[in-house]
Amino acid sequence: MGKIAALPELLVNQIAAGEVVERPSSVLKELLENSLDAGARSISVDLAEGGVRRLRVADDGGGISPEDLPLAVARFATSKIATLADLERALSLGFRGEALASIGSVSRLAAQKNAWKIAVDGGTLSPVEPAALAAGTTVDVEELFYNTPARRKFLKSEATEFGRSEEAFSRIALSRPDVAFALTHNGRRSAHLPPEDPRSRAARIVGDDFAAGAVEVAAEGAKLRLSGLVAAPGFTRASRDAQYLYVNGRFVRDKVVAHAIREAYADVLHHDRHPAYVLFLEIDPALVDVNVHPAKSEVRFRDSGSMHGFVFHALTRALSRPLAGETAPPPAGAMPAWATNARPATQGSFAVSQPASAYESLFAGAVTAEREARPSLTSAIAPAGEGARLGFALAQVHGVFILAQNADGLVIVDMHAAHERIVYEKLKGALDAAALGSQPLLVPIPMPATAEEVEQAQASREVLDRLGFDVAAAGPRELVVRAVPALLSDLDTVALLRSVLADMQEYGASRALVEQRNELLSTMACHAAVRANRMLTLPEMNALLREMEETERAGSCNHGRPTWVQFSMAELDRLFMRGR
Ligand SMILES: Nc1ncnc2c1ncn2[C@@H]1O[C@H](COP(=O)(O)OP(=O)(O)O)[C@@H](O)[C@H]1O
Ligand SMILES: [Mg+2]
Repeated sequence: MGKIAALPELLVNQIAAGEVVERPSSVLKELLENSLDAGARSISVDLAEGGVRRLRVADDGGGISPEDLPLAVARFATSKIATLADLERALSLGFRGEALASIGSVSRLAAQKNAWKIAVDGGTLSPVEPAALAAGTTVDVEELFYNTPARRKFLKSEATEFGRSEEAFSRIALSRPDVAFALTHNGRRSAHLPPEDPRSRAARIVGDDFAAGAVEVAAEGAKLRLSGLVAAPGFTRASRDAQYLYVNGRFVRDKVVAHAIREAYADVLHHDRHPAYVLFLEIDPALVDVNVHPAKSEVRFRDSGSMHGFVFHALTRALSRPLAGETAPPPAGAMPAWATNARPATQGSFAVSQPASAYESLFAGAVTAEREARPSLTSAIAPAGEGARLGFALAQVHGVFILAQNADGLVIVDMHAAHERIVYEKLKGALDAAALGSQPLLVPIPMPATAEEVEQAQASREVLDRLGFDVAAAGPRELVVRAVPALLSDLDTVALLRSVLADMQEYGASRALVEQRNELLSTMACHAAVRANRMLTLPEMNALLREMEETERAGSCNHGRPTWVQFSMAELDRLFMRGR
């Protein structure tokens, strides 16, 4: 006698439900995707007890015909694809035809379309019968996992389940700002989203502070397109909770894209901070496999290398628009720039096109005078009235900040952070152009060192060489420095070399200039940047401002902190309640 038997259909569905239906939030995701696939313009969701007792999704989409109702709840029955070729070019959110069957096998499900209704109770189908619904489709799921107690035990508290459902709701609502969404929990309204533009939807879901400063991304390739909003480097999070990536409209987690984004921020973000973004990648469905996982939360790109490059370059471009050349100020956000902590370089509120004012001519005079007095700085001072987006220095505060006045109002610059960014970009440019020259020291400097440092210096000779150092062992615990990088020749050589060696010890010399090049240069730049408490003259401060305007990504230092903030006259007026 044979021992193998085909499993009963109910059990098959319950097993399948294990993959698609993990908790109320996964049911909600499937139902919302069905509504969007049906072309809904308005969707409302009602949850009771975190969605465990009841979860209802009502839409105004195309609906299901009465003859189709039994098939809609049957496994592997779908209206979305019919052939393998269809599968390979599917752009619908669903296509596996198993969600309703799986959900019906572990709950009491009822689907209503117009005047017709079908119910599935723990996998048992009732006949199609008349119902009172006016239009669209309503799917009602009650008592999730009531007939599979083992699964039910894995559910968490009501608050946790509701939180997860809310997240599933948000992810989908964020992807379709053109559709209206509503969410209630235990009879209380928790979200009400009218159809709106993408930035306002992002403001409601990710936050006003994100949306106000976010930089727009728009890049197009042969068969793909990337669009959306990415946070200004000054707006970062301690966790990855504000990272939304959609591939052909579907929220996914993807290591390749996530890595490319991270790399694009590497220069402007501190290591333990995470960027926030809402990005939509549209790609020829033939170039991506979405059928990797039953819940479709992962994708596989045909050519992940090009994908990485495409995303990286699109974001790098968006994040590095230099200050000079920016024009229109952003629409007023919910908060002034200084309250959100950093108005990014790309969103600087410079009144570039304003007519020449009395102020400007005043400054023109100041600049000319300055130019005559300090010929060595002429090249650094932009003619007034056009450049000078960061304005002209007024004073230094406690040796830390520079105050400057521009056409818009007051600018405050973190002197060290700004200078660090400038030096860093210079070092990067010089290294790329193989122009990081070496400056021989008149008198070689002896440097007491640990055995590890001596060893490291010997092992990293080549890298040190390329950076412009000439270092040799002068004994088991002594090094001698004969040359230093030309750009950094007036620094404390011993301290600089010590940090560079420490970096190399951490990363390994062989990788130092390839993978860790930016960290290494950033360490060097930090040594070079003006320290707090260095008194600067006004011309020196102005020279720094002019260099910032010329430097890419000058809006934040390489640790991701902002380098400057703008207070507009309106913001200053508000502080003093003027004009009310
Ligand atoms: N809200 C809805 N409006 C219209 N049709 C729906 C709706 N929900 C489900 N359907 C129909 O039921 C079918 C089965 O749904 P489902 O089990 O989720 O599988 P899939 O979405 O993969 O096709 C769908 O193909 C669709 O024809
Ligand atoms: Mg579906």
